[in-house]
Amino acid sequence: MAFPTTRMRRLRTSAAMRGLVRETELRADRLVLPLFVSEAARAPEPIESMPGVSRLPLSSVVEQAREAAELGLGAVLLFGVPAEKDAEGSGAWDEQGAVQLATAAIKVAAPDLLVITDVCLCEYTDHGHCGVVRGDGSVDNDATLELLAGVAASHARAGADIVAPSDMMDGRVGAIRSELDSEGYGETPILAYSAKFASAFYGPFRDAASSTPAFGDRRSYQMDPGNGREAVREALLDAAEGADMVMVKPALAYGDLIAAVKQATRLPLAAYNVSGEYAMVKAAVAAGYMEERAAVGEILTSLHRAGADIVISYHSKDVAQWLSQTA
Ligand code: PBG
Repeated sequence: MAFPTTRMRRLRTSAAMRGLVRETELRADRLVLPLFVSEAARAPEPIESMPGVSRLPLSSVVEQAREAAELGLGAVLLFGVPAEKDAEGSGAWDEQGAVQLATAAIKVAAPDLLVITDVCLCEYTDHGHCGVVRGDGSVDNDATLELLAGVAASHARAGADIVAPSDMMDGRVGAIRSELDSEGYGETPILAYSAKFASAFYGPFRDAASSTPAFGDRRSYQMDPGNGREAVREALLDAAEGADMVMVKPALAYGDLIAAVKQATRLPLAAYNVSGEYAMVKAAVAAGYMEERAAVGEILTSLHRAGADIVISYHSKDVAQWLSQTA
């Protein structure tokens, strides 16, 4: 029955009424905080394009992880910033590498906090690409798989609860699954960055990790932003190779694909609210163009509403703090 019998505004009359019928709400335990672990930093090094985010020495990473645990966040996601890089990215599987040491230290300091590790080579290669580069400058897919599997295994040995490959090579989920299984880590889940687009929104991250490709770009492995059906195919392939969870990245401009991938795979889905999305909000807030708490709440809620079970965001700690204030 339509107007005047039906009046949608009846359920919007008070905060209590609106609270009663709210469909989607933020929860700290569904938020993941990314952390940059630096081998060279002696103190936190602020990242200019990401106000409030720093490259952290090991001791500060542990401190941040403890805070994340106290705030009730779901997990931290670790990225390594090595002191030295080489052509292969060998720092990525160094048992004494930044991510490996940080993982082990966090599991001691905050045992209940989940540690997710980013599995990729680009932060560790001197050319900045996510795989093995051939003489002609192209990235060799199959030669890269073995290296990625080794990286994931080294993270699992360090105590990672979840490994998250972000390289976009074909077949990496299967390669990592079989390596983990053969090393006795059959229970370590894989969160696959399944639909990862070649995006301008990674700009600040590449500053943070000094991982801008020295030549070319990542469009021969990351996805074309125009392609939605292909994103679903990527996610289904990762699922078939054994991915336990899938990811859509970036998040804000890809809400349609969060919904489509969720529906097609029925797997737990993570949306990555990436560095450029964070930087845009911070810049607008600093300029006085919008109110931070409301804007961030609206953005992260929209990702859950689109179908994300998990949201990875540099805003995570702030949001958890805000949630605890209103509770
Ligand atoms: C690659 C990786 C990137 C991000 C996460 N993992 C950068 C890239 O592909 O260039 C981006 C995260 C962000 O922008 O916040 N290891």
